[in-house]
Amino acid sequence: MAIYFDKQTKTFYLESKQSTYAFRVNEFGFLNHLYFGKKIARDDLCYSVHVQDRGQENFLPGCGRTHSLNQYYNECPTIGRSDYRESMIALCDARYSRVSELKYASHKVLSAKPEIDGMPSLRGGKTLAVTLKDEYNNSEVILYYTVYDELPVILRRAEIVNKGKQALKIDRAYSFCLDLDDNNWEALTLHGAWARERFIERTPLHHGIFTIDSKRCSSSGQLNPFMALCRPNADENSGEVIGFNLVYSGSYAIKAQVNQFEYLRVVGGINDYDFEWELKSGEKFSTPEAVMVYSDGGIGKMSRTFHDLYRTYLINPRYVDKPRPIVINNWEATYFNFDTKKLCDIIDSVKGTGIDTLVLDDGWFGERNNDKCGLGDWFINYNKLPDGLTPIIEHAHKNGMKFGLWFEPEMISENSDLYRAHPDWAIQVPGIKPCPGRDQLILDLTRDDVVNYVIKVVSDILDNNDIDYVKWDMNRTMTENYSEHLGKNNKEMHHRYILGLYKICEALVNGYPHIFFEGCASGGCRFDPAMLYYFPQIWTSDDTDAYMRTMIQYGTSIVYPLSAMSCHVSDCPNHQTHRTTPLASRADVAHLGATGYELDTTKFSDDFRVQVKEQVEAYKKMENLVLFGDLYRLGCSQNSNYFAEQIVSKDKTLSHITVMRALAYPNFTIYRLYPKGLDEKATYHVEELDLTLSGSTLMNVGFIVHFGGGDFITRTFTIKKV
Ligand code: GLA
Repeated sequence: MAIYFDKQTKTFYLESKQSTYAFRVNEFGFLNHLYFGKKIARDDLCYSVHVQDRGQENFLPGCGRTHSLNQYYNECPTIGRSDYRESMIALCDARYSRVSELKYASHKVLSAKPEIDGMPSLRGGKTLAVTLKDEYNNSEVILYYTVYDELPVILRRAEIVNKGKQALKIDRAYSFCLDLDDNNWEALTLHGAWARERFIERTPLHHGIFTIDSKRCSSSGQLNPFMALCRPNADENSGEVIGFNLVYSGSYAIKAQVNQFEYLRVVGGINDYDFEWELKSGEKFSTPEAVMVYSDGGIGKMSRTFHDLYRTYLINPRYVDKPRPIVINNWEATYFNFDTKKLCDIIDSVKGTGIDTLVLDDGWFGERNNDKCGLGDWFINYNKLPDGLTPIIEHAHKNGMKFGLWFEPEMISENSDLYRAHPDWAIQVPGIKPCPGRDQLILDLTRDDVVNYVIKVVSDILDNNDIDYVKWDMNRTMTENYSEHLGKNNKEMHHRYILGLYKICEALVNGYPHIFFEGCASGGCRFDPAMLYYFPQIWTSDDTDAYMRTMIQYGTSIVYPLSAMSCHVSDCPNHQTHRTTPLASRADVAHLGATGYELDTTKFSDDFRVQVKEQVEAYKKMENLVLFGDLYRLGCSQNSNYFAEQIVSKDKTLSHITVMRALAYPNFTIYRLYPKGLDEKATYHVEELDLTLSGSTLMNVGFIVHFGGGDFITRTFTIKKV
């Protein structure tokens, strides 16, 4: 791993074993991007810079008719000085001028990667900090670049410091800018909705701006904060791909802009929609971190890089490589209708199956007997559970099971004691009726008193009950962006809310290191790297239909590791799609993540219980692959009749494949599967087919999968090196 500065050419080379990222300080002091891609030698790259006199361009004063910033590849573009593309930073000074020019002042290689004030970020790597000074408005911008030896990754972020005496206004503070030579790329994004999260979409870029964003103060239900540029010929297994992902849970934007010279600029960070930030004299503003991954091996290699990066440097090391709890969650079993006996019966009913954790979902607190009330009242509902949580927790522990509890700490119901006591704690504008969303409002986490209250009230439950697991939900996105105490700075609201949220996460996750935290937001509607920093796994979707899950989990795996996805077997007909799929298929698909169950196990027949026991045993055999393995996506049900994913151990001695055929057709074509990622020279045994073949034969000749009759049938294969 190297960060190298060539004093002669003033060029920075940020190198991993596989990639180079290069930029230089040009003759005017701007940071001029030179290259991001496959590893190259440390040659002088100035020859590759091209500027020319072009009509209708404006030029920097005193530089003749060639030096227009519109022609430069800039590491940190601003506005007002001849660059008409999207800026990374936009500031407004005390005289209301927005003209700014950020020029190189100094740089240093840091001995340790600094944390970001109040925000999660990745660990490790080597970090370069380059300080730029603005010519006109007394600001300084520090650009941070982190590089990892073994992974083709660059992390970027910025800090804006007000060095002047008067306040500055930040109109935009994005985390990164990447300027590329040509627009011969397509954008791959992950769009979705509740119960249909992270579907893949690929679209050609065009002149103008292609934007994905969120304005909801929540990162990702509709569009994940992720975009990849793919060469048109790039596919799952080959071709150049560059992936961008924001370590942020609030409103964001990522934009890919093609200008009239066919240059491509990608920028992204906190959404500047309804955003402004007052930066007083001496203050500093930090952007969230952005992750950039380079792949010369298609989308699959990009995903494997993200997975390795997040498992090694992002997700809580306390949990990331530990076997995950095998959960029985009572939500779809009982909804709000449960009592102590029912919960103890559920515990009894899974005895001997290997299921090891009961998670008590929504409805145990306040007057919460439906979803219209009670949020905020984090006190046990003694009408429903007369002896509190203790008998259930003790019953679980006595039976060798752990106990988990659901919270939705960020929310408040209008029909709650908390709201009656503190109506001003809910986000709304006095005199304007708030837009309802699941009949609840959001607590104003921009206020310290509210943040402290949430920490205290959740801590009280955790302190007084022997809880092993928390499911942290969030079921409403923001509408009335307003907080009275922020006054004229109300456009700081979304970001301040997210900082408040991180404060709570920090206090609870670090305050209770023995508790395993799972994230959730109406299923997978806030599935982003910042949430993964706190919660080692996230409920992937409220949609547990096995067929839909092949698409949702496939799309999620484009960025996020399998071990980060909670995947449950639920009842049929499925509660979201009303589809019936075989139990075996539901389990096979749920095994491609942190598996669990979500159905009324008290209704299990003996036969069903035996099947569940066998499923858990099968999962345990492949669990290390889910936690540590390399993922190869072999078939995508979003655009074909087949879904197939393969996981290969890092040492290539063990591999697991799951295939689903969606619909059965009579006399249809055969389905031949070509495994990947094996050692060509090694010999492998495919257990289910009793076939012993070389890695090269398996990968090149493949084998035919026989499904028999029926829809949504899965087959699994275990491949072992002999
Ligand atoms: C959300 C979650 C579900 C469940 C319910 C409870 O929809 O995604 O898993 O916890 O809330 O209200």
